[in-house]
Amino acid sequence: MDRWNTAYFQGRLSTGVLAELRELADAPDDALALADRAFRLMLAAGLRPTDLSVFTAWLIGFSVPRTVPSAWSGTVPPVTMAGRHRVLDEYVARNPWHRPGERGVFVDVGCGFPPFTTMETAQRLPTWRVIGVDPAFSRYVVYNTEGAYACYDEDLRLRYYQAGTYDPDRDNSKRRFREILDRLLPRLTGDEVTDEGGKLVRDPMRHYETDNLELVGGGIGEYTADVGVDVIRCMNVFMYFDHPFRERALAWATTLLRPGGLLLCGSNWIDSACARYTVYRKEDDRLVPKEFAFSIDNVRPIDLAPWYGLHDDNLENLSNAHAVGTVRADTPFLRRFDSRMDALLTQLNMCPRDSDGYLGHAPADMPAEDRARCSSILAAHLDDEGFVAEAVDVLRRSGRHAWRNHVGHVAMRPVKPPPLTPSAVL
Ligand SMILES: C[S@@+](CC[C@H](N)C(=O)[O-])C[C@H]1O[C@@H](n2cnc3c(N)ncnc32)[C@H](O)[C@@H]1O
Repeated sequence: MDRWNTAYFQGRLSTGVLAELRELADAPDDALALADRAFRLMLAAGLRPTDLSVFTAWLIGFSVPRTVPSAWSGTVPPVTMAGRHRVLDEYVARNPWHRPGERGVFVDVGCGFPPFTTMETAQRLPTWRVIGVDPAFSRYVVYNTEGAYACYDEDLRLRYYQAGTYDPDRDNSKRRFREILDRLLPRLTGDEVTDEGGKLVRDPMRHYETDNLELVGGGIGEYTADVGVDVIRCMNVFMYFDHPFRERALAWATTLLRPGGLLLCGSNWIDSACARYTVYRKEDDRLVPKEFAFSIDNVRPIDLAPWYGLHDDNLENLSNAHAVGTVRADTPFLRRFDSRMDALLTQLNMCPRDSDGYLGHAPADMPAEDRARCSSILAAHLDDEGFVAEAVDVLRRSGRHAWRNHVGHVAMRPVKPPPLTPSAVL
């Protein structure tokens, strides 16, 4: 902790932040590397030590070791959440420079399970054919009476389970799911079987399909479509992989897309907050980067999400840190932004500044959902109050070709961002 503090924050982190970061003392290597990377991205974005809240530090100390692939036997967890891509659905539905030819075909690759976001896309684009694709689709899913669930493959190996936001005893959770599976499997004759202690479903994806929604097992490089595709969405996938994986994915997407088709890729969080994404368009048989965009809450995030990534070369994280750094370097803008952000945080009773000027924690009694929604509430206020337009002006003054896109994000013509400074600690 002390070396991080010295190397990235001039030794000025608050005692509250350092106490939360100490939770990482026994964390696995990928969690430590992720935290180190997050600090370097903060540095690249010009975040001050006083703006790293105790809440963000708590997310780093508590959530990171529980969400990195090493916590899931090396797999990418199929974590998703309802509402996550609502703004991106609008991006596609109201795009002023892309229209599908005939019936639009939308592929959501790495869509996660349950496929909440793909279901929402199918509802928002009712005339389109929507296809959710994921390698983690499982043969069986077991539910307990609280609605938590575990997914098993054909050989009854546990692939993934989700037992709420706080799961103090993972081995016990796994054992209890296994008991439900062992009890119900011999009684499974149709698609599902239920008793007083739980439910077992075979081929759960079939239950989510509708007239315009198909769900297919597979991944980048494997899935092939029977028609040309208009839009491929690949959100919260590349952040787990390195740049060569991304290049292979882009080559695969090029083969699937119709001329003029779009690839949307990047990362975001609850209610489309913490967004950073690149939009490519297929032109002359290659993918041309047309737009990079980020949500205004990223200028001074209270969430960890804008800094989350498993590799130093993730393009959206680098582009976000670079653009945010440019915006934050404008002192008059930053002064106005900071004072409004502080007022909004006080209003939300979230991470209030202490008498030493440091951002604090979320109140202990604030429900997890309310904490999680803060970033999107902040983003909506800040856009309404003109901060997106102001950030666009700052970027333009710095020589970037920037605009406020049709869903209220700070958008710009993509440029190659500088690489991340190597770790000074690990
Ligand atoms: C964090 S989830 C993101 C889910 C959803 N797209 C979202 O944004 O909420 C990452 C997903 O990527 C999937 N994935 C992992 N490797 C993949 C690959 N090679 N091709 C496609 N998807 C992959 C995982 O199974 C997982 O469901």
